[in-house]
Amino acid sequence: TIGSVSDLVVANGNVSPDGFTRSAVLAGGTHPGPTIMAQKGDTFKINVTNQLTDESMLTSTSIHWHGLFQRHSNQMDGVAFVTQCPIAPGHSFLYEFNAGNQVGTYWYHSHYGVQYCDGLRGPLIIYDPDDPYRSLYDIDDESSIITLMDWYNVPSPQVQRQVTADSVLINGVGRYDGGPDVPFAVINVQPRKRYRFRLLNMACKPNYIFSIDGHNLTIIEVDGQYVKPLVVDSIQIYAAQRYSFILETNQPVDNYWVHADPDAGTNATAILRYAGSPNADPKNRTTLNSAALNETSLHPLSPPSSRLLQEPDVKLDLVLGKNLTNFNFLINGVQYTPPSIPVLLQLLSGAMTAADLAPNGTVYTLPRNKVIEISFNPDNSPGGPHPFHLHGHSFAVVRSAGSSGYNYVNPVVRDTVTTGNPGDSATIRFITDNPGPWLLHCHIDWHLYAGLALVFAEAPEDVAASQPVNDASKQLCPIYNSLPQQN
Ligand code: C2O
Repeated sequence: TIGSVSDLVVANGNVSPDGFTRSAVLAGGTHPGPTIMAQKGDTFKINVTNQLTDESMLTSTSIHWHGLFQRHSNQMDGVAFVTQCPIAPGHSFLYEFNAGNQVGTYWYHSHYGVQYCDGLRGPLIIYDPDDPYRSLYDIDDESSIITLMDWYNVPSPQVQRQVTADSVLINGVGRYDGGPDVPFAVINVQPRKRYRFRLLNMACKPNYIFSIDGHNLTIIEVDGQYVKPLVVDSIQIYAAQRYSFILETNQPVDNYWVHADPDAGTNATAILRYAGSPNADPKNRTTLNSAALNETSLHPLSPPSSRLLQEPDVKLDLVLGKNLTNFNFLINGVQYTPPSIPVLLQLLSGAMTAADLAPNGTVYTLPRNKVIEISFNPDNSPGGPHPFHLHGHSFAVVRSAGSSGYNYVNPVVRDTVTTGNPGDSATIRFITDNPGPWLLHCHIDWHLYAGLALVFAEAPEDVAASQPVNDASKQLCPIYNSLPQQN
């Protein structure tokens, strides 16, 4: 609701989503955290209070609202050491922002270290009273949100980067190999209705092939953007991506398997249960997987800005590589490490050039109001695919990994795109209309931690005027007061 402040307490608690009990980092006491629901145009006021005490994991925190552009509110983007210092234990921070016209399916997660792998993540939905597809579905509420996550039975500091998660969680529950038969998640539906399901991959690592036996999925939204309806029977969804699809409960009253097959590890299932069918497991797997989603078949409902379809002003080739000695990741030969002073605060105290902001080469400056084209070029070191996310923007995917060519007519617009194999680049375009420092990174959290990121300082000279930092974020960074003050 507009105007009122909601409290989000971040605290440790024991959870056993796959039958194994461990301490976790919880938002609002649950994993995943509570769904944040808003209406188009609402102002968000979320007071995050840090009550973390378990020192086997990080005890400071910072929360990012994935996919929201934070126009004029870069200081609310929640990225530790890019837009703010982490919130120390015993402290709180008021995130206050307006998402403008943005609608659709988003999520929130810790953006400090790999903390979201310990549990700090949840859905964020912005409902659209003017939804152009409103006549296509009957039901769109909390019951029609499906989250996919990976889960580890040790705290993140003990997880080896190459390790496969212990379990896949569908709507927060799953099973690990050798573990107990935790009851499957059940998605209850009424027969002969049309549901708008919102599917979120909130994992730290895997992508999943998602399907529901006996049912087609009609995709209408991708990462907060409406698309032309596309009928598929499975969706490969990478870390941090989201889809809305319409499902018609037009099959015989029964139980049907829901599948989430990860790219590594054991497949997971849940149950789609029509009202009137027994409380029992479905019988056979019936998925055909004959119409798998292909990203190049997704097209925006309204065409992207024509500027994105012309020659770009700036072309950036990013070579994604690996240091074969320590297995850290590199972009154009540089491993990202977070600066000690948030880039935003550096900009506000007058540092303007990439060299001033990060002598190690992890900050790139971008000029204002230009079309930027980025190509992701994995080198020959293993480790992909890498789902790349850009903060502060969505982008047109003019070339999808694995596709045969470029689309300068009706490319899908989204905020997280996967890169391909060596020699198979993904290419995106966006317009620099949002001054501020924005992270670009692989959303496999272990890869981000190992350096697969960079910061765009977008229109650095306009940052101070467009988003003066608030006093609270200065207080989080005691070091700020030792910097030269410009405003
Ligand atoms: Cu989901 Cu850097 O974000």
